[in-house]
Amino acid sequence: MLSVVTRHFMRQSANISPIMKAAEKTAAMLGRRQAQPGRMFAQQNSLANLPVPPLQQTLYKYLLALKPILSTEDYEATQAIVSEFGKPGGYGEKLQMGLILRSQKMENWLSDWWLDKAYLEFRSPVVMHVSPGVVFPRENYRGVEGQLDFASRLIAGVVDFKQLIDSNSLPVDYMSGQPLCMDQYYKILSSCRVPGVKKDSVVLYPPNKPDAPRHIIVAYNNHLFSLDVYDSNRKPLPLTELHSQLKRIVAESPFPAIPLNILTSEHRNVWGKIYKKMSKDKINRASFEEIKRSIFMVCLDKPVYSEETDHIENFAHHCAKQALYGGGSTANSCNRWFDKTLQFIVGADGDIGLQYEHCTAEGPPITALIDHSLHYAHNTPLDSRQTLSIERSAPKRLEFNLDRATLEVIDDAKCNIDSLGNDVQICCFSFEPFGKDLPKSQRISPDAFIQLAIQLAFFKIYGHSTATYESASLRKYKFGRTDTIRSATIESDSFVRIMMDQTKKPSEKAHQMRKAIQAHRENTNAAINGDAIDRHLLGLKLVAIEQGTNVPDIFMDTSYQTSVHFRLSTSQVPAKHDVTMLFGPVVPDGYGICYNPQEDHINFGVTAFNTARETDSQKFGQKLAESLLDMQYVLSKVPPQAKL
Ligand code: COA
Repeated sequence: MLSVVTRHFMRQSANISPIMKAAEKTAAMLGRRQAQPGRMFAQQNSLANLPVPPLQQTLYKYLLALKPILSTEDYEATQAIVSEFGKPGGYGEKLQMGLILRSQKMENWLSDWWLDKAYLEFRSPVVMHVSPGVVFPRENYRGVEGQLDFASRLIAGVVDFKQLIDSNSLPVDYMSGQPLCMDQYYKILSSCRVPGVKKDSVVLYPPNKPDAPRHIIVAYNNHLFSLDVYDSNRKPLPLTELHSQLKRIVAESPFPAIPLNILTSEHRNVWGKIYKKMSKDKINRASFEEIKRSIFMVCLDKPVYSEETDHIENFAHHCAKQALYGGGSTANSCNRWFDKTLQFIVGADGDIGLQYEHCTAEGPPITALIDHSLHYAHNTPLDSRQTLSIERSAPKRLEFNLDRATLEVIDDAKCNIDSLGNDVQICCFSFEPFGKDLPKSQRISPDAFIQLAIQLAFFKIYGHSTATYESASLRKYKFGRTDTIRSATIESDSFVRIMMDQTKKPSEKAHQMRKAIQAHRENTNAAINGDAIDRHLLGLKLVAIEQGTNVPDIFMDTSYQTSVHFRLSTSQVPAKHDVTMLFGPVVPDGYGICYNPQEDHINFGVTAFNTARETDSQKFGQKLAESLLDMQYVLSKVPPQAKL
C-alpha cells in the first residue's frame, strides 16, 4: 500500500529543511513516546535503529527486480545507468555516505521522511488515495435501537483498549519471534491530520497530560457532537449512559446539517485553504479543535441499504462503499470527518466498519484495536457496566460559521466525492474453498502463496508481469514503518508462464511454484530486516535533494518510473475477526488488493478505477480465485516437500 507516495515523491523537488531540525519538529509534533517501563514498552529499548543497506546490494537487487518487468533493451540501458551510479567514488557512494550520516544521528532515518513524503506532502484527497476502509462482519440488529446499542458497546470496547494503551499494559507484538515497536499504538487515538495549504500536519494529544481529551466525536445526520466518554475522574462512562447520550444526539438532529464535513474529502490544497480561512473565526476554530482533540469518531450512518430493492449479495459491496468513502454525497460521505485517524462506522442495518487515516500507523495496530473492541462489544451486555454515581455531561453540538464561498466549495466537494465514488470498482469477496490451512499443510508460507496467486491472476489477464508492491513491516526497528516486497520476481515470472503452459506437467509447475515461493520468502525476510530496496533508493534520492545537487540519472531513468508504477498494490492485513480491508489503486491503471487470510477462507478487497479501460476488479477477483484453485490442484498432484 502507499506506493502512490513514491510516485508523488519523484515529482517533488522542493528543498527540505535540515535533517535534525525536521526530525525534532516531527518528534515534538507527534509527542513521540519515550520508552517507559511497563509491559507495552518492555522491549522498546532493545529494538535496533533502522539500518542502511549496503549500496551494492541494493543496486544488485534493483536490477533483479527490474528483470521480470522490463524489455531486454530497456533492461540493458538501465544496467549501464545503475553501474555508473554505483561505481567506486561515484555519485551513489556520496549519497550513501549522506544517508549513513543521517542514520547515525537518528533512531530511524526513514520514519519522519516517510510521514512527510508519503502522507503530509501528498496532495490528493485522502479518501480512496490514502485511507483504507475496513468492513466488519454484519451485526444482527436492524434499525436505530440496535444501532445505538451496538455503537455504545463498540465505543466502550475502544475505550477499554485505550485503557490498555494508557496504562502501558498492552502485550508487546511479535513477528517471527522478534519484538515489534509499539509506538504506533500510541498514535492511533486522540490524533488527527490537519490540512495545510501546501503540506498537512498531524496532531496528537497524549493521554499522560493533565488536559488529555475525554471526548469522542459522534456524527449523525452530518451533525458533529462532542461526547465525553470519561467522567471528570477519568473513569469510563457506563454503557447505559453512553447509550442514552447517543439517543439524545439522534433525537436532537432530525434534519441533516449543512454537509461541511465533506470538505475533508477534498484535494488537500483546496481543503487546506478553506480550513485556514475558516479558522479565523473563533467558533470554527473551537469546533476544529474539538475534532482534532477527540479520541476517535463514531459515524452513526443513515440507512441506505434496502433488503427489498438490493439483492442480498450486494450487502458486502454496500458495506465496502460505506467504509471506503461513505457511499457518496446522498449516502453517508457527508457523515464523516476524513481527517480523523479513526472513524468507526455504525450503520442502521448491522453494517459496521472503520475508515482510518493512514499517516500515524499501518494496518496491524488498527486490526488489533478492532479485534479487541469487537470482542468487547460482543461480550458486554448493555447493562453490564453500571456505576453508582453517574456524572452527566450532555453531548455538545459543534457549530460552524460558513460564508457563501465555502458553501459553494461544499457543493463542488459533493460532486467530487460522487465522481470518485463512481470511478471506483470494488470487489470484496471471501474465497471459501480453503484458507491459510492449505499452504500451511504443504509447508508453504500462506502469504507467499497468495502473492503468487495474485501474480498468476494478473498474468492470466495481461500476459506479462508487472511492478508489484507488498507492504512489509519495519516495526522490528524503533519507530518502524514499511518497505516494499517486490512480488514480481524472475522466479514468479517463470512460474506464471509455466502455469499457463498446457504442455507442462503438474510436477514441473509445483517445482517452479516452490522456487517462486522461496524467492518471495527471501524477499520478505530481507524487507522486514531492513534490507529491501525501495526505501533505500528513496533515501538516496532525498539525500541528493537535501544536498541541493542534481537528482541522479538512476531516478530519471524511465525504467525507474516503470519500476514504481505499481499496477499491483497489495497488502496482507490479518485480523482475528472476519474483517476485510480495502484501499484504492495507487496508479490509474492499477489494482488495490488487500487480504485477510483466515484458517479456512481468505477475505479479499480488490479495487480498480472505471476510468482505466484495461482494469476490472470483478474480473481480477475471478481470476484470483481461479488462480488459487489452479495452485491447489497443482499441489494436490505432488507430495508435500520441505518447509519454505
Ligand atoms: N509452513 C507452514 N506454516 C507456515 C510457513 C511454512 N513454510 N510459513 C509461514 N507459516 C505460517 C506462520 O507460522 C503463520 O502462522 P499463524 O497463522 O499461526 O500465525 C502463518 O503461516 C502466516 O505466515 P505467512 O503467510 O508466511 O505471513 P507472515 O505472517 O510471515 O507475514 C508479511 C508476512 C509480509 C505480511 C509480514 O511480514 C508483514 O510485514 N506484515 C505487516 C504488513 C503491513 O504492515 N501491512 C499493512 C500496511 S497498511
